[in-house]
Amino acid sequence: MSDYLWKKQTSAPVDERVMRFLAGDDVVLDRHLLAFDIRASQAHARGLARIGVLNDDQAAAMIASLDELAAAFEQGEFVLDQRYEDGHSAIESWLTGRLGEIGGRIHAGRSRNDQVAVALRLYLKDRLAQLGRICAQIAQVCLDRAEREQAVPLPGHTHLQQAMPSSLGLWWGGHAEAFIDNLALARQTSDWLDASPLGTASGFGVNLALDRDGVAEELGFARLVVNPQYAQNARGKVELRALDALSAATGDLRRLAWDLSLFASQEFGFVRIPAAFCTGSSIMPNKLNPDTVELLRSLHSGIVGARVELESVLSLPSGYQRDLQDTKPPLIRAFERGLAGLDLVPDLLSGLEWQTGRMRASIAPELHATDRANELVGEGQSFREAYRQAASELDQLSQRQPEDSLAARISPGACANLELQRLRCRLSTLTPDPWSLTPDP
Ligand code: ARG
Repeated sequence: MSDYLWKKQTSAPVDERVMRFLAGDDVVLDRHLLAFDIRASQAHARGLARIGVLNDDQAAAMIASLDELAAAFEQGEFVLDQRYEDGHSAIESWLTGRLGEIGGRIHAGRSRNDQVAVALRLYLKDRLAQLGRICAQIAQVCLDRAEREQAVPLPGHTHLQQAMPSSLGLWWGGHAEAFIDNLALARQTSDWLDASPLGTASGFGVNLALDRDGVAEELGFARLVVNPQYAQNARGKVELRALDALSAATGDLRRLAWDLSLFASQEFGFVRIPAAFCTGSSIMPNKLNPDTVELLRSLHSGIVGARVELESVLSLPSGYQRDLQDTKPPLIRAFERGLAGLDLVPDLLSGLEWQTGRMRASIAPELHATDRANELVGEGQSFREAYRQAASELDQLSQRQPEDSLAARISPGACANLELQRLRCRLSTLTPDPWSLTPDP
């Protein structure tokens, strides 16, 4: 272990067993935060130079050395591992190893408490931007296929019982609108947490005239977390909202995956899942299983579990408590796994092959009963009377065609008037060229 940042002449010897317990997986999780921590450290160094705590040469040397660390980390030449207590210690150890005494100047005016908080907010802005981009791609595929396949009949179900003729256009459009909502939520959440805690130090501010605004602006934040105590108390709260945005998407994905899982069964036989997303059975030579669809369905459970784990850490008084470190494992696990799964969805959806003959053939004549009742309403009957009459004439619906049923549904959003253009407009207002909340660090 490199020297602990908090080692003093008077420190008692450490018990490595205790230290290992305190560190947990922190240093490994910090691999996801290190690039953001480095960027924030560079902005902090520039800020210190602006107020004369560093001279220009010292700041320039630090910034160049941190660039080298970022490159070495990215290329795998620098490994963040148990030699360090955490990513923050690794950064300072790298600087003092290369620049000697100058390296030890980086920590003026900051604490690991605001350092981790700023790295986490930058990480979340980046991951929410990724989430938004993936939601936009999913919505785009759904809208394109809704357009192309809008008139293809599909039996519509409620209670898993056949209900009315529906269409692929309506099914695709429904999933498109869900992911447009999820994109909007990712953006709103990112805006909501777009505030810099850096320069609040351990939660009380410091007696240096830090240029907090300048540093926040350089890091691309919209505003400051003003109050140092709140900068710490918001830890965990911010993460929960980000998980909410992620879980809106994985929750919708669960439904979509459920649909596909049913539709791909031999009993339905409506769709073929592309072979690249399936695996075989170790014993049954005949099988090709839709494993990807199933693990996309269960993805949500991991996010929900992470949310519960994270929230239960937050029963804390004001200020920094080491418990907060335990919010990192669920948060990072959820985002890394969640985004890896969601990222597969556009290609999966693009490759689906519908068995349109089978879909159409499974629409039983009596699914037209609601149309019949509404036709009688059009002729002046009360709906309740028309309902009873249609129920007594279920055997007279055999000549009806699903295409005619779909074509007559003209109110906004219904099968003959899907209003895909409205959805496209909303999608494009949410994705200005493309949505780039945070350039990659
Ligand atoms: N690993 C710590 C965390 O995630 C970093 C902050 C440590 N601060 C401290 N005062 N020990 O919370």
